[in-house]
Amino acid sequence: MNKAFYLETFGCQMNVVDSERIVDLLEGIGYHQVNSAERADLVLLNTCSVRDRAERKVYGHLGRFKPIKDRRPDLIIGVGGCVAQQEGEKMLEKVPYLDLVFGTHNVHRLPDLVEQVEAKRGRGSATEFLDRETRLNLFPQRSVRDNVTRFVTVMQGCDNFCSYCIVPHVRGREVSRPSSDILTEIENLVVQGVREVTLLGQNVNSYGIKEDEIDFPALLRRVNAIDGLERLRFTTSHPKDLSAELIDCFGQLEKLCKHIHLPVQSGSDRILEMMNRGYTAAEYLDKVERLKQVCPDIRLTTDIIVGFPGETEEDFQATLALVAQVRFADAFTFLYSPRTGTAAAEIADRQSAEEKQARFERLVELQNRLSEEAWQNDLGETLPVLVEGESRQGEGQLFGRTTWNRIVNFSGSKELIGRTIPVKIVKVFRNSNLGKLITDAA
Ligand code: 5AD
Ligand code: SF4
Repeated sequence: MNKAFYLETFGCQMNVVDSERIVDLLEGIGYHQVNSAERADLVLLNTCSVRDRAERKVYGHLGRFKPIKDRRPDLIIGVGGCVAQQEGEKMLEKVPYLDLVFGTHNVHRLPDLVEQVEAKRGRGSATEFLDRETRLNLFPQRSVRDNVTRFVTVMQGCDNFCSYCIVPHVRGREVSRPSSDILTEIENLVVQGVREVTLLGQNVNSYGIKEDEIDFPALLRRVNAIDGLERLRFTTSHPKDLSAELIDCFGQLEKLCKHIHLPVQSGSDRILEMMNRGYTAAEYLDKVERLKQVCPDIRLTTDIIVGFPGETEEDFQATLALVAQVRFADAFTFLYSPRTGTAAAEIADRQSAEEKQARFERLVELQNRLSEEAWQNDLGETLPVLVEGESRQGEGQLFGRTTWNRIVNFSGSKELIGRTIPVKIVKVFRNSNLGKLITDAA
């Protein structure tokens, strides 16, 4: 293998999984991965278009590769992911030094496109949406490396059309993968040493509905029964589809981690309606209550959008009130960003940027306080941690996660990787904990 590629991934776990597939495909045509564009023959960006800032970054990043290409005209530059899907061939016009563009349904075409450019047969693009049958055959299954945890894609696409969201426009309609394929993949992963899987989809709760398949709670039960698997997670859930059966799983399935990411977006019924979310704040709170009933130490994380068009101080207060009531362990907070082609982009918006920013900061301040309180609870506790690998903190340092998906760094020997061991939490930071191994367990 003498050709090198450099790949940068932006955005959500869907892109992370697609990037793993990209690595496999490129290795299949004689490339190996390097961590600097300077040393690469091929550079690729796997892009995100969920917010404007993410999208603008793509053009900024491409600009960085231009001087390298000026020096080495044979350098191949490509863009994939959601921005590529949305912009299509237009990107080739906008960026004259770009060689190839591949969309979210066309990751499998990448080797052909690269070979086309290598052979000087011209620049390439593949950004058409594919039909259900073809997509079902193309569900990513990656080669296994030394992972303790893996994402397993169970469905792709989204049919919800929340009014602010570009995802249904760039990822296409929902398709669920046959449960037998999912179960076989996980069984194989476990044989190779994987101990935890996260079932992945834009909207996992509607798994199987269109396909005459088992439903998501049934899928969870079957995954839970796989011997040798220790932990199970899933993301992302839509609150409107969080059924009573799914809530019950948190009380019944011993491998299911006690964490759910449940994006609420807003605490105002008026805004939720305008967002086309399909639930009210009271319905959301009711589901949270039931989750806490079946699993008292469950922790929730969420996504919230501030500054949706027409949001008033009263609407925003309702969001603050909901946040304070649920006491999320963490929240990803976003300033609303209009996306061309979505319904919300058409709604008149009179709020000033300063006003939105001020609200955003108030929310962040509240959430920081709540997060700190939630994570400080763990100080002094000894918690089971699944050890995932060597930590970036340095020599002899390992990292793993608690059931709440919280990262714990601690010193220990590499033989512990893949095992679940008790670790005492000695320090709590904003995004991770510092732990100490309880030695008699090691
Ligand atoms: N503006 C701001 N945030 C958005 N999100 C999705 N679309 C937008 C947008 N147009 C946020 C939502 C979603 C998360 C992945 O990104 O909160 O849950
Ligand atoms: Fe976007 Fe809503 Fe679908 Fe999530 S559920 S991907 S926010 S449209």
